[in-house]
Amino acid sequence: MTAVGIDAIEIWTGKLALDLAETFAPAKDDNPEKYTKGLGLKASSFPDTYEDIVTMGANAAKRLMDRNGLEPDDIGRIDVATESAFDNSKPVSTYIAGCLEDVYDGDFHHANKGERKFACVAGTQSIDDAYNWIKAGRNRGRAALVIATDTALYARGDPGEATQGAGAVAMLVDENPSVVELSTHQGYGSADETDFLKPNQQFPSVDGKRSVQVYLARMREALEDFESVAGRTHPDDYAYIPFHTPFPGMVRKAALLGFRHMTRGTDIEDGLTDEIGRQPREADFEDWDAYEEAIREYMDALKETDTYDTWYGRTVDPTLTLSRQVGNWYTGSVHVARASALKTAAETGRALAGEKLLVGSYGSGAQAEIHSETVADGWREEVEALDIDEQLARRYDLSFEEYGRVHDAHNHEKERELEEFTVPSGEFVFTGWGRMNERT
Ligand code: HMG
Repeated sequence: MTAVGIDAIEIWTGKLALDLAETFAPAKDDNPEKYTKGLGLKASSFPDTYEDIVTMGANAAKRLMDRNGLEPDDIGRIDVATESAFDNSKPVSTYIAGCLEDVYDGDFHHANKGERKFACVAGTQSIDDAYNWIKAGRNRGRAALVIATDTALYARGDPGEATQGAGAVAMLVDENPSVVELSTHQGYGSADETDFLKPNQQFPSVDGKRSVQVYLARMREALEDFESVAGRTHPDDYAYIPFHTPFPGMVRKAALLGFRHMTRGTDIEDGLTDEIGRQPREADFEDWDAYEEAIREYMDALKETDTYDTWYGRTVDPTLTLSRQVGNWYTGSVHVARASALKTAAETGRALAGEKLLVGSYGSGAQAEIHSETVADGWREEVEALDIDEQLARRYDLSFEEYGRVHDAHNHEKERELEEFTVPSGEFVFTGWGRMNERT
């Protein structure tokens, strides 16, 4: 059976940064540690006023194509995953293809283009669509381009404001992939939820505290569903576990839940018994409240053990390095987490080919998806080619007052002349609806 998976990755961050400890917290009269320690974030990325989901997606895609020597004829499918779309008729992928056709010989007339929406999980769903298309033998030798691109904005003053972010991740899904091979081991947790929605509105209506609970509930269901296909899994089966990362503090909670679930009845639980006791079993409690309280106590104790701390530091913390500096990218977030983990492995000289990743995606509304992947032989070369560190270092640091103007500018005020904070160079820029040109 031919392996199918992610063959190439490219990341494009919005070119502006808002430092949460230095700039946001003082303006809000908050303790900076609420953001740096509580949420686990250092900064958010924002698009400059000449950037949007199309330009960020097209710029990521162009770098990916150039680096891999691809022409439009090599790509048979372009799917964009986004929850920031501005056109209710044609998909954002047509706008991105239009940009790319301006700079390549040839066009994408042969390519199937679409747009996937299910909040943040849509990026992973688009990868699935591409995988299925290739596995079904309908790709005629061509690869699929998947672009997860979002501008994650909340209303000013909303508790979610500290978790904003903007950027795009372009991924090539192909046969004999260089980065990761996808598997058929996959599980879902899905339910109709109303804690985070945007019915015909720019900013989400969010019940933030509930959204955290819904994320964890759906993730637990997805883990159980995953195990019904893949069999019992052990926390040490995986080199890294990238989760959807609205902010790193959310992943700290998800990782604890995953670890507890995977260790029940294992050698790890046995090893922890003297220190913190065995995990509570529902059957041992008369009512649900008492059972939940016992779980909370167990989790609090578990979090403090060296066993958990070491596992978390090795398997989960490296997935958060980029996210800490860019915030929530919605559809791109889990793919940034994967890239972050692989980048850490490359930087520390770790051998990863053949090792497994457990990837936990999530979208409000709500759906969690968990699948396993196997790292492929060419991962290191691909990850070392990323220039995300340079992009992060080049970002313009916004003052709080400038941040306010940028926030307004991206709130559908794009028709008027807007100040620019950085100078574009050899990239796609927004020049008015329907006209996106390359400026050098
Ligand atoms: P909040 O109410 O402002 O913050 O908003 P908080 O008071 O809950 O504090 C956050 C954490 O900081 C807490 O830690 C505090 O204890 C800690 P926790 O108890 O959770 O472990 N803290 C401090 N720590 C150290 N020093 C201090 C300090 N002060 C406080 N001085 C909330 C938090 C998540 C509600 C908010 O950011 C929000 O509404 N975010 C948007 C929604 C969201 O991201 N939800 C996550 C799950 S849903 C999801 O992931 C989907 C999503 O990506 C959308 C999609 O799928 O499309 C959002």
